[in-house]
Amino acid sequence: MSSTAAAVESDPDTAAKIIPGPILLLGAPGVGKGTQAKELVKLWGIPQISTGDLLRANVAQGTALGNAAKDIMQHGNLVPDSLVNEMVAVRLQQPDTSIGYILDGFPRTLPQASWLDDRLGTHPEVLPVVAVSLHVDYNQLLRRITGRRNCPVCQRIYNIYSNPPLKAGFCDVEGAALAQRSDDTEEVFAERIRAYDAQTAPVVEHYREQGRFAEVDGDGQIAAIAARIVAAVRQLRK
Ligand code: AP5
Ligand code: MG
Repeated sequence: MSSTAAAVESDPDTAAKIIPGPILLLGAPGVGKGTQAKELVKLWGIPQISTGDLLRANVAQGTALGNAAKDIMQHGNLVPDSLVNEMVAVRLQQPDTSIGYILDGFPRTLPQASWLDDRLGTHPEVLPVVAVSLHVDYNQLLRRITGRRNCPVCQRIYNIYSNPPLKAGFCDVEGAALAQRSDDTEEVFAERIRAYDAQTAPVVEHYREQGRFAEVDGDGQIAAIAARIVAAVRQLRK
């Protein structure tokens, strides 16, 4: 049993099975959305849909979307809503989303949120979204961003300070040399935080006002945070 599964099972209140439905993971750059999404994928078997990962894949493949997004991402700004919404629409048509999915980093603007609300409104068979917003303080975010390394093969997320690989610089599973995201500099991080405060913080308030919203402390052990998210989702799905 994984440490997250153990942390969840050890709490009888959260052990009951949940039909997850659509879950939004919100929060500032580096707060742990991707890390937690991967824990929830293992627990619930539903896909992680990270708009950042999808955009980076498009950049790597040199698609028209990737070419349009590359410079914007490199400067820490947000890619236009129409492009991101279309990308998400295509992904949500995949059959693996039928019992739920984790949207990681979407919606990030109020127009994206209202696009998603409208889209889900036309699918009454789908459970309403629940939104979980993670929070850690600024210094912790900066340390997480500057220390992050990714495996280019399996996308595992490491951190040279808090979650280092067994052999420095190499993925534990693939043995591949770890990479650093080009937007993970202190300078671009400052822009990403500015974009978050101006455009994404209002999205958090939008879902807070709608209900089916929980704020979760993102500080601590990864498994313990996952257990907090599961407990919050269970409560919101009651
Ligand atoms: P995106 O890739 O979504 O970046 P982000 O929101 O800035 O978030 P990050 O991926 O940087 O952080 P995270 O919260 O996933 O943290 P992680 O788990 O990796 O977006 C990139 C760009 O794409 C945007 O700037 C924008 O240009 C564009 N874009 C994406 N979506 C868009 C949208 N919807 N609309 C428009 N544009 C969009 O963790 C970070 C580090 O912390 C890791 O090293 C990890 O190991 C470590 N860590 C995690 N948990 C813990 C813990 N509990 N304790 C200690 N360390 C931890
Ligand atoms: Mg991420």
